[in-house]
Formats: sequence, structure tokens, C-alpha cells
Amino acid sequence: MSLVAQVKKLKEERNAVILAHNYQVPEVQDVADFVGDSLGLSMQATRVEADVIVFCGVDFMAESAKVLNPSKTVLLPEIDAQCPMAAMLGVEGLIELKRKHPGAEVVGYVNTSAATKAEMDVCCTSSNAVKVVSSLRSERVIFVPDENLGKWVQRTVQDKEMILWPGFCPTHNSVTPAQVLKEKRLHPKAKVVAHPECRPEVLDLADAVKSTEGMIKFVKETPSKEYIIVTEQELLHRLKKEAPDKKFHSIPGMICPNMKRINLRSVLSSLEGMRHEVTLPEEVMRRARLPLERMMAIGRGD
Ligand code: 13P
Ligand code: SF4
Repeated sequence: MSLVAQVKKLKEERNAVILAHNYQVPEVQDVADFVGDSLGLSMQATRVEADVIVFCGVDFMAESAKVLNPSKTVLLPEIDAQCPMAAMLGVEGLIELKRKHPGAEVVGYVNTSAATKAEMDVCCTSSNAVKVVSSLRSERVIFVPDENLGKWVQRTVQDKEMILWPGFCPTHNSVTPAQVLKEKRLHPKAKVVAHPECRPEVLDLADAVKSTEGMIKFVKETPSKEYIIVTEQELLHRLKKEAPDKKFHSIPGMICPNMKRINLRSVLSSLEGMRHEVTLPEEVMRRARLPLERMMAIGRGD
């Protein structure tokens, strides 16, 4: 029996669903029940009725699924599929920042641990960060941990003072304007669509700044036939499927090695051995749920 057939059979037997992020390898995306961005995956996790969620993404995404649907067994097929940005801000760091800036509301990018989320007022993703910050009453906002995303939000939301944390995504932060300009020279008719985790000088070169799901919507709704996609290169798998008449170019080497740890074999062995199960202290889940639910009530922004 093929690997795909084995995964599908075991998925039925375990009463499981597979949720996969847009950066997962094509073979995993193709076997998943739902593929999307961080916001879409959180929303989908709340709707799961099956007993088991196999989460093909990175640690913080699987934790959010557990927090949002705690009665389900959530499995992360590879234990070391961890987002380095989420590791750049611990609970103590955030508590200290709150102590330094009393009265400021805390907005946290979902790329954080559940324990860190427990210290936040509201979460956001790249899709709705501007909408979330704009919705706050407070004039001072602590925005963690992605500094590039925070700077991007600050460009639009000018009536608030934003206190940032020097966190970053190694994959997006390493892209340079020279790399984007090179692609523009090679494909002069292409529109540039960039993820807000990129540096400001890269975002300056973009025709649109979007979350991964926002990019898919943008290319479907825009008449242009050609795009330079400045995010993790696996997004091209969905883009090609959903807009087959259009042409896409990626930035060479834009790969998230953490997302690439999961493959069909690890999904199969995760289902076989029911590993690695995400477990969190009750108190952390209770406190992290509130900022996540507030974020989802605000909804999608792009
Ligand atoms: P999206 O929410 O846009 O999918 O981004 C998640 C992420 O980790 C980007 O690096
Ligand atoms: Fe984390 Fe960056 Fe990978 Fe997204 S692309 S999961 S932010 S390391």
C-alpha cells in the first residue's frame, strides 16, 4: 500500500483530521483535510469534531489548536518542528516588558508559546495585526515578538505608540532588497507580494504585503499574470493549484527548515504511535484561550 493510502487508512481508524500550514511540503499538503495560514488553522481547529488533530506545522500552531479545542488529542508529528521566532520571547521577558510599560495593552503575534500567550491581552496573526492593534482603546501598545511585523503595523496605525521586541523570523528577515530587485529585473512585469515578517526595506519594494492566505486571495483577485512571492517557497504549491493560469517566482533559498521537518513518513508514524501529543498545564490553557478567542472574534484582515 502506498504511503498516502496508509496515512488515509490510519486517519480513518484513529478518527483523525490533518491540518497543514501553507509552508508544508506538497505531499503533506495534499493529504491534509485543511491547508491554510495561522489564522485559518486556528479557526479550523475550533471546528474539529474528530478525536485527533494531526497538526502539520510548527510547535506554537499545534499548541494553539490544543488551547482552542482542549478535549482533542493534538499530535505534532515531529517534536523539533519549532519556530525560532517563538523561542525569542519567553514568559519572563514579557512580564518584564509589562512591568516597564504599565498601562500598555499587550498584543502578541501567534508565533509565541502558549505560556507567553497567557500574559497577553490579545493575539494577532499577519492577516489581522493592523485590525487588532487598531481595535484597541489604549494609546500605548506592547507588540511582541516580531519587530518587522510591528514596524509594518506602526506605518498604518499612527495614532498609537508601539513598544516592540527585537524578535524576527530567520527565513523572512534574511531576505535583502538586492534579492528582490534581482527578481524584479528578471521578471519586470511581475507584481511583488511580500510577507510582513520581511524587513521594512524589502516591504518598500512590494506591491502588496499579505499573510500567506492573503497572498492567495490577492493573486486570484488581481488581473496580473505574474508574481514574485516573497515568503517561504512552498506557498507556490497552493498558488499554482489555485491560480493555474498565473506564473509565480520565489526568492531562491527562502525555506523554513522547521516547517520542512514533517513529511508523510512522520505523519504516518505519528498516527501509528499517537505521538507527539501536545500537553499543556490547565492554567496556561485557560489564560491563553482568552487572547486567542479575542483575536478570532476580530477576524481576518486581508
Ligand atoms: P501566516 O499566518 O501568514 O501563514 O504566517 C505564519 C508564519 O509563520 C509565517 O512565517
Ligand atoms: Fe517561524 Fe519563520 Fe518558519 Fe514562520 S517561516 S514558522 S516565523 S521560522
